Amino acid sequence: MQNICVIGTGYVGLVTALGLAEFGNTVVAVDNNAEKIHQLKLGQTPIFEPGVQEMLQKYSDSPQLRFETDIASALAGSTVIFIAVGTPMDNKGRADLQYVNEVINAISTNLSTYALIVTKSTVPVGTNNYIKDKLAQLTGKEAGTDFDIVSNPEFLREGRALEDFLHPDRVIIGHETVKARTIMMDTYRPLQLRSVSFLHCSLESAELIKYATNSFLAAKIAFINEMANLSEAVGANVDDISTALGLDSRISPHFLKPGPGYGGSCFPKDTRALVRMANEYDADVTIVKSVIEANENQKKRMIKKLLTLFNTATTKKQGLAGKTVTLLGLAFKPETDDVRESPAISIVRELIVYGAIVHACDPQSVDNFARIFPNIRYFSNVYAAAENTDALMVLTEWNEFRNVNFARLKNCMRGNVILDTRNVLDSEEARKHGFHFQGVGKNYTF
Ligand code: NAD
Ligand code: UGA
Repeated sequence: MQNICVIGTGYVGLVTALGLAEFGNTVVAVDNNAEKIHQLKLGQTPIFEPGVQEMLQKYSDSPQLRFETDIASALAGSTVIFIAVGTPMDNKGRADLQYVNEVINAISTNLSTYALIVTKSTVPVGTNNYIKDKLAQLTGKEAGTDFDIVSNPEFLREGRALEDFLHPDRVIIGHETVKARTIMMDTYRPLQLRSVSFLHCSLESAELIKYATNSFLAAKIAFINEMANLSEAVGANVDDISTALGLDSRISPHFLKPGPGYGGSCFPKDTRALVRMANEYDADVTIVKSVIEANENQKKRMIKKLLTLFNTATTKKQGLAGKTVTLLGLAFKPETDDVRESPAISIVRELIVYGAIVHACDPQSVDNFARIFPNIRYFSNVYAAAENTDALMVLTEWNEFRNVNFARLKNCMRGNVILDTRNVLDSEEARKHGFHFQGVGKNYTF
């Protein structure tokens, strides 16, 4: 078992720190956000992520996990250093490496004994080699002897991050020396004992595996959204298409749920970063480019569907003036408070352009959303949000929304339009209660 420092305590860093402690390692997690570390030291999670609060409690008095703001003291005594800082999209669609660079500088001034530097952040191909060269240049030390570099991309999903970290489908280890490989296998020893697949490869392959995986999953979603749109046009039901595709073992049933377009902190940025990366190498990635375009169209399409439900000309700006629309769900998916690149963001922007007043509710992400849209009205429950409004749109499939009481809704709303962009409501019940109802990819016969 290893002494580990995890740099960055966001969705990935915090879960990585907890997971590595759970695997028996001794972990210090460091972040330059003093407020986050203050909360973590008090045993409180700064993010909403199932199981994280309980796991923090478990380690609250344990020497196996501590939190720091001071990177120098966090690095002292750590053999394995995980980098888990953000790599957001810059204004050209590339991965912004400023936080990674800050961390490399900090590591370089604290590299006294051998350390294994592991990149968990998603970084473009070539970044780990760049880190290696930069560390060697800054410290005068030799890669492969005084330190090693590993690319160990992360595949956890928000909303089930701990579960994914503790029970991964596979662990990717891009490395260049036997020592690096041995330390990584020791770090993840409990997974080896459970026969989880480990793939050992080059730094470049590991880096590209991460982008390829996210782009492929994004493509699956874009594809089923396209089939949903086609289903609406030709009179088919996308649920049947999805089920049938999923029963083909070559396709698999996962990531075939149609919706308002994928969002989140990764698919949008990683597909764009892959395109930028390919451009730099003059490589053709037509499919990924189309996926990005199709996803943008899907978000816009939700507004067109709403306008159609209102019988309003789709091109007319201010076409929703005087209408109030209630949004159920703001997070990019359920079980998270994260709103980064949530489809709700572009949908609210469009609704405002069309002149609508927006009401919203979400079990966890109102605070984060209100930082982007301080002027829309937020409510703590569905019926308060729907009071006197003309339309309701389900944007995130939280369990709380699945069983709405249509009679109660009918009583409190002034209009009768429902657009369920996640296909979670009972369409038949909605129609029985007099709602003008639409889902995605469905044709209703009643
Ligand atoms: P995040 O923004 O939630 O967290 C990043 C953390 O790093 C923040 O707490 C920030 O304060 C800290 N930080 C930034 N600079 C620092 C520095 N110099 N020193 C110490 N701390 C610093 O980001 P995230 O969602 O956890 O993503 C991190 C990386 O993991 C990204 O590259 C992302 O693409 C990748 N990833 C994310 C997910 C996910 O589901 N969120 C899944 C897999 C991979
Ligand atoms: C995704 C990947 O699933 C993770 O493996 C990866 O580690 C992570 O990105 C990352 O690199 O950050 P995440 O963004 O947390 O995880 O959530 P997903 O469950 O993949 O959902 C992403 C988006 O796709 C959401 O907006 C979701 O609603 C949408 N989606 C997902 C669909 O519209 N249909 C589906 O069938 C599945």
